[in-house]
Amino acid sequence: MQTFLHGRDLIGDLDFSKEEVETVLDVALDLKRKRALNEPHAYLRDKTLAMLFFFSSTRTRGSFEAGMAQLGGHAAFIESRTTQISHGDTAKEIGEILGRYYDGLAIRHVEWTKGNPYLNEVAKYSRVPVLNMQCDIYHPFQCLADLLTIWEKKGRDLRRKKMVVSWAYAASYQKPMSVPQSLILQMPRFGLDVVLAHPPEFKLMPEIMDQAREQARKFGTGFEVVDDMDEGFKDADIVYAKSWGAMVHTPDEKQGAEIIQKYSSWITDQRRMRLAKSDAIYMHPLPADRNIEVTDEVIDGPNSVVYDEAENRLHVQKAVMALTMG
Ligand code: CP
Repeated sequence: MQTFLHGRDLIGDLDFSKEEVETVLDVALDLKRKRALNEPHAYLRDKTLAMLFFFSSTRTRGSFEAGMAQLGGHAAFIESRTTQISHGDTAKEIGEILGRYYDGLAIRHVEWTKGNPYLNEVAKYSRVPVLNMQCDIYHPFQCLADLLTIWEKKGRDLRRKKMVVSWAYAASYQKPMSVPQSLILQMPRFGLDVVLAHPPEFKLMPEIMDQAREQARKFGTGFEVVDDMDEGFKDADIVYAKSWGAMVHTPDEKQGAEIIQKYSSWITDQRRMRLAKSDAIYMHPLPADRNIEVTDEVIDGPNSVVYDEAENRLHVQKAVMALTMG
């Protein structure tokens, strides 16, 4: 167990080593147990977290805010548009100044090519940990919650288990590609054979793909890319299917939206779930475009673990905050 996480940032999924991620998940399970037993666990008494949002949220906001209160501290919800950022406060100033007020800075900034550089710039000038509540490249806390959920449902020995990370159709907007990118980086370290399925125009970032292949090589797991959703689902133990945008293919939003329309058949339905193993779990970070991205029958069905997955956001975030901000 590697426990020296005090003062550390969590921006990219590989910022913490495999052993450090195991520590996070062990602490998360302990905190989950303590909450179930109503045992006090105020490890961050009198500590404060700034939660700076450049984009909307349900789960991330709720779970960080509740988590800080349960740890005995306080989280301040700050929407960027209510600040002076649009009038000139730079990332350096946010890091320098908010870093002197708070004990941790959590930021969500998903704008393509802007979000991740912003977080890194804040981190450069902040004297307290910067936590990534989702950027354009990574969604590390979602991925930690996903891994904890997989441990709970499938056990810790994940060797020879197949996880399909699939693109799915959604009509609402071009969603960030941070969730699939975090999954393909983190899951190979924990033994899963990952199959990434997407139409040709929905490639992930080449540098992330290279790092994912490297992780798979290092940990001796499979990593394959297919352009057929059915093929991806075949014999899968874990189905993780969600939409993301065509930003790598084209930065033009209108063109990206037109491309999405070609693939409305990429929906997770019962026929596709039957291609996976009978005990396969269905995962989605939410929000989902119901009956567009996934049918009600699947997301509300017996294989779906989406609510346990959403709950685990709370426990893993509390673990990281307690370890880094304590
Ligand atoms: N999964 C997730 O990050 O949810 P929110 O966008 O609601 O925070």
